[in-house]
Amino acid sequence: MFNQIQLPYAYDALEPHIDALTMETHYSKHHAAYTKNLNDAAQKAGVADKDISLLLSSLDQISDEALRKAIRNNGGGFYNHNLYFGTMSPNGGGEPDGDLKAALDQAFGSFSDFKDKLSGLAAGQFGSGWGWLSSDRNGKLILSSSPNQDNPLMEGNGHVPLLGIDVWEHAYYLKYKNLRADYIKAFFEVVDWNAVAANYANVLKG
Ligand SMILES: [Fe+2]
Repeated sequence: MFNQIQLPYAYDALEPHIDALTMETHYSKHHAAYTKNLNDAAQKAGVADKDISLLLSSLDQISDEALRKAIRNNGGGFYNHNLYFGTMSPNGGGEPDGDLKAALDQAFGSFSDFKDKLSGLAAGQFGSGWGWLSSDRNGKLILSSSPNQDNPLMEGNGHVPLLGIDVWEHAYYLKYKNLRADYIKAFFEVVDWNAVAANYANVLKG
């Protein structure tokens, strides 16, 4: 049984950056539906007790094509949104420090360069999808984007997502309409860098 993360803040806590109605609809409708559909498909496929990261890293082991597709889409939606909601905070924004800052500087030159590159990837993702900051097994940071509910776990190269920017229109359309770049800018105002650093520390622990 896969469970949605409990939001550690109220729906309106990220105002004015992310509005309350978007948060409520996103969490209680979209994310809830991905989670229910994942649980239904995972039960049918006999993988309901698997770790979600392992499941998404080994989708080719699901022989039934329709179930594999359902678990890719809904399992991705479940995992991606747990990460997304868990790395935002009303006390977010600013810049990371410690190991994460050092790794960002090493990989991208500076925090500002990192932010520009990830924002560009997220803004440039055609249609619905995600922009990602991930780490490889050695702690090297990588940026990417993906369509639909895909994520770096599915690429099978050991990259673990640390932070994902949801650029589906359901994440921003009520407030930002077609202005995806404005939403991305606002998203960075609520990123919980302590949570992202904790995700990074987990990768480094192995
Ligand atoms: Fe979403």
